[in-house]
Amino acid sequence: MTDTQKIALVTGAARGIGREIALELAKKGIDIAVADIHFPDDISTKNDIIALGRKAIEVKVDVSKPESVKEAVEKINEELGMISILINNAGITRDNIMLRMTDEEWYSVININLNGAFNCIKAIVRQMTKNRWGRIVNVTSVVGQRGNAGQANYAASKAGLIGLTKALAIEFASRGVTVNAVAPGFIDTEMTNVLPDKVKEMLLEQVPSKTLGAPADVAKSVAFLVSDDAAYISGHVLAVNGGMYM
Ligand code: NAI
Repeated sequence: MTDTQKIALVTGAARGIGREIALELAKKGIDIAVADIHFPDDISTKNDIIALGRKAIEVKVDVSKPESVKEAVEKINEELGMISILINNAGITRDNIMLRMTDEEWYSVININLNGAFNCIKAIVRQMTKNRWGRIVNVTSVVGQRGNAGQANYAASKAGLIGLTKALAIEFASRGVTVNAVAPGFIDTEMTNVLPDKVKEMLLEQVPSKTLGAPADVAKSVAFLVSDDAAYISGHVLAVNGGMYM
């Protein structure tokens, strides 16, 4: 695809890693649907993208609800056009050890992190295959690759995303659609800010550089995977973890 304006849907783009991905893609000339369940009052990813000279709209969506995703996709198609890039970034944690984990903690994480990606892909991928060009990037985690005590729900959802990525990379290979994942390590966002200092120190001990990653580190990797330069890369899980796990 060369002459069509690229349009990306980035889920969980109101803050954190998703916001940084949205801004980075906008800098590459891509119009953005900023999708999230909650938009904070003090930052506007949409306005910041418009200031960069690209089109942007805010779309309120709950990725865990197929109907909500369908409505969001219709709105994006009407207001921006056909979606050619999907970044499944929305995610939550509800940490607990297995012996104490509630059904709500288990299902909410699987429903948002894994089923959310399924809902978005299902609602959008036909637009990509029709156009014979598309990019899907799933934001997984180092925890999905190596596990972590107290995060069985999160690890299962993120490992599930890796399986989903690989299966779909094969399914869509002949349609010009690549499907990849990025697996961030320990990144400085609201999600990690809430961790107790002791846990943060313990996690940092495992990072060879002894530093946290920045949302921009993840965003630049995603921007590469959606670029034309990455056309022959599919089914890959790109670790952005400072050497924490290899
Ligand atoms: P964050 O908590 O700052 O941002 C997540 C965003 O997703 C929020 O804006 C939230 O409103 C949105 N969201 C939550 N539930 C939603 C739903 N049902 N529908 C639509 N949007 C929803 O988290 P952060 O750190 O930016 O994480 C982004 C992604 O990166 C997540 O998938 C997370 O699992 C992953 N990740 C983060 C790491 C970190 O160290 N921060 C490490 C590895 C992966």
